Amino acid sequence: MTGPVHSGEPVVQLDGIDKEFAGVRVLQGVDFDLCAGEVHALVGANGSGKSTLMQIVYGVHSPTRGTLSINGEQLRLRHPKDALRRGIAAVPQELPLVASLSVAENICFGDLPCRAGIVRWRDLDRRADAALSQVDVEGAIHPRQLVGSLGLASQQLVSIARALAQGARVLILDEPTSSLGPEAVARLHEVIDRLRSEGRAVAFISQRLDDIVALADRVTVLRDGRVAGRLLREDVTPEAVAYLMAGAVGATGPERVDAKADDRNMEVLSVEGLPLPGSVSGVTLSVHCGEVLGLAGLAGSGTSELLRVLYGTVRHHKGAVRLFQHDVAKWPIRRRIGAGMGYLSGNRQAEGLVLGQTIEFNLTLALNRRGRLWPLPRRRQARRVAEVMEQLNIRPRDPKTLAVALSGGNQQKVVVGRWLLAGTRLWLLDDPTRGVDVHARAEIHGLIRQHVAQGGGALVTSSDIHELLESCDRLLVFSRGQLVAQVDPAVTGEDEVLALAGGLIPAA
Ligand SMILES: Nc1ncnc2c1ncn2[C@@H]1O[C@H](COP(=O)(O)OP(=O)(O)OP(=O)(O)O)[C@@H](O)[C@H]1O
Ligand SMILES: [Mg+2]
Repeated sequence: MTGPVHSGEPVVQLDGIDKEFAGVRVLQGVDFDLCAGEVHALVGANGSGKSTLMQIVYGVHSPTRGTLSINGEQLRLRHPKDALRRGIAAVPQELPLVASLSVAENICFGDLPCRAGIVRWRDLDRRADAALSQVDVEGAIHPRQLVGSLGLASQQLVSIARALAQGARVLILDEPTSSLGPEAVARLHEVIDRLRSEGRAVAFISQRLDDIVALADRVTVLRDGRVAGRLLREDVTPEAVAYLMAGAVGATGPERVDAKADDRNMEVLSVEGLPLPGSVSGVTLSVHCGEVLGLAGLAGSGTSELLRVLYGTVRHHKGAVRLFQHDVAKWPIRRRIGAGMGYLSGNRQAEGLVLGQTIEFNLTLALNRRGRLWPLPRRRQARRVAEVMEQLNIRPRDPKTLAVALSGGNQQKVVVGRWLLAGTRLWLLDDPTRGVDVHARAEIHGLIRQHVAQGGGALVTSSDIHELLESCDRLLVFSRGQLVAQVDPAVTGEDEVLALAGGLIPAA
């Protein structure tokens, strides 16, 4: 790693920032600065104000009080374009990509190469290629591909490429690694190291403490909208960061509650010969009562696709899917939900969350779709909603808050909470802890464990293999649509899983 080369005046400086939304103060007296040639990490629990603070720097919000200075000049940005003109580009937490446009068009969005009013498509592809090659390790993304056809991890890479293509001196990365697998994360670390050594300034938000430890020259920790502490590179350890975030020692792991012995032989789900793109013989697997089955794989391995096929969003014409002995292969989604299946999409905004509706509406969406003859009495529903909000520590605690006003991690907790409330028996969870802070992460795994102990089952993917090894009973490893191995998390290391997923160890 190259060391920081920063010197002199900060390029970005925030002084005494307060921010209120409809009278609610979410930032209070925050000072933050960013120098050329450094990576300044901003960390904090979900809802602590990280994204809001950075949105002030890249022109989405104006502060209620306090000042923003860029290169020593105090100013007010009215739009992200104002920020870009001053050399500040961002990768926002919720990706602002246009699904119906190509990768190249998204990367050069707002700045298409034209001559005499005509778009130069070749130049467009070339520019997109150059930006993509910096982040796309496997060369899996093509500039002409539609963004809507890409998985979330690839979309995240496209967003990063777009920020790089904008050639800014200041880059703000809001959880750029939240859905990336280990190889893409390592590549991004290299890119950020290079940006730093070129003298650019990088502000970096992440819930992954390993990102922070690997990259940060300085760390600012936010708690409830105020600065809780600052660390310099030599003091940055996972423990120190976790302590400052919560004001307590790090999270405890999920509590182990095991299902009753007689239930464990019962199959919740059994799948035979299910075709996935790239697979030759189809996928065969089963999930038992009380079991959390992990699905590991690199980007494009087919694990997310498998969950979508099981839920019914992607149709299949071959293979058998049995849910509690019922053949559900031809059932529509609604019927599968009725029979006890719940699916959490990796892309909460695109598929999971109704942004213009309240927390309560979003939490009870599946509950009220489960083919009940009568809806749950209002009071009981309100009580259950309050319980789930408490369990997952969803903030703000008012169930009437609109989903759009929630921080990213809290939005994630709402989509997880939905299936908790619905009493679903088989959970299909695509990266359930994406962007969730360490404490809530342990909480979510604890809840998955509790859920399966009551006679359910769960299939879980994650870009974080370490997390899968810690939380699953069995782990299936996928590589390019093929199920290549089944491993026991108790005796298997992360490196071995990675090697299997990367095809470095031939499948047994
Ligand atoms: N547009 C908005 N209207 C009202 N409240 C908002 C709005 N945007 C954010 N908030 C509130 O501001 C607080 C801080 O949110 P922010 O998104 O900055 O948190 P964060 O630290 O980025 O969290 P996460 O780790 O979950 O992304 C939250 O309580 C959130 O509900
Ligand atoms: Mg955020």
